[in-house]
Amino acid sequence: MIKIVEVGPRDGLQNEKQIISTEDKFTFISLLAAAGLRNIEVTSFVKAPAIPQMVDAHDLFTRVRNELSGTGGNYPCLVPNMKGYEAARAVGVKEIALFSATSDAFTRKNINASVDESFVRMAEVAQEAKKDGVRMRGYVSTAFGCPYEGRMEAGKLLRVLNRFLDLGVHEVSVGDTIGVAVPKDVRAYVREIKNEIGLGKVAMHFHDTRGMALTNILVSLEEGITTFDSSAGGLGGCPYAKGATGNVATEDVWYLLTSQGLETGVELAKLAEASKFILGKIGRQTESKFLRAYLATGKA
Ligand code: HMG
Ligand code: MG
Repeated sequence: MIKIVEVGPRDGLQNEKQIISTEDKFTFISLLAAAGLRNIEVTSFVKAPAIPQMVDAHDLFTRVRNELSGTGGNYPCLVPNMKGYEAARAVGVKEIALFSATSDAFTRKNINASVDESFVRMAEVAQEAKKDGVRMRGYVSTAFGCPYEGRMEAGKLLRVLNRFLDLGVHEVSVGDTIGVAVPKDVRAYVREIKNEIGLGKVAMHFHDTRGMALTNILVSLEEGITTFDSSAGGLGGCPYAKGATGNVATEDVWYLLTSQGLETGVELAKLAEASKFILGKIGRQTESKFLRAYLATGKA
């Protein structure tokens, strides 16, 4: 079984200028849960002027907590600092996602801190989260390349991964924030992680900016990765990485994995329904070729 972490409601929507109503976001998340997704990143408890789309984090999570907690799924939320953590805790968030990067320049733009400073903040949050029994996931952005500092070597990634594991995260996701990873590097970096750290707690998070995401996922699978982040319909992008387009589409990941005989627990027709719903609200076509074909023909 391959684990898919659905990041559409958070990574997928955070860059959308048009504000989607809380009701529509909740419907989207409910449809994703009905499709069988068991890990759905709901929102971010961040500064509203930084990410205006996430301003309803409290109200949205309240609905998720009240209406979806019986589904047995995990509903993580992004938290950048103590203020975000306190807001998340107040509304009953059970899993948080902490985030940093290999690049100081990117981290400065993203959260107004250096990488070192971000770990000071996150250590404070982690200490509280452990006391509260809140699970933690980590993200390393710009793992392969940074819009400001260029190529990133594997050594930097390993150091940041280790720092996250030291914080006590149950999983850490390797983010190709701007979609510059190529299969040769993915294979080499994953092998280094395997040799130095092991892959048991490692997920991959590819953006499809240059069309390499699926190939990178296949290479990651061959090297032993079993958890992937993706976003329904291929929505997404980071506001602090110019030109960064969507995450790899969950439908594309489904098709690739299914074609390889791998299970995801996700029902395609219902997933496509969720994507169709949110794309309609945004007024956009999907970036996923597979989803376009599926919606046109009704066949996988
Ligand atoms: P800052 O301006 O340095 O914060 O922002 P500050 O501590 O100086 O406080 C300034 C004001 O913000 C204060 O309010 C604080 O209370 C408020 P004022 O006194 O002026 O009225 N504030 C907050 N409000 C709500 N929630 C909070 C919070 N913290 C402070 N948590 C900060 C620093 C981190 C807050 C800001 O830069 C921020 O919110 N950044 C969010 C960036 C973000 O969400 N980026 C996208 C997610 S990362 C990503 O997409 C990559 C990923 O997908 C993986 C990949 O693809 O690589 C995960
Ligand atoms: Mg991302």
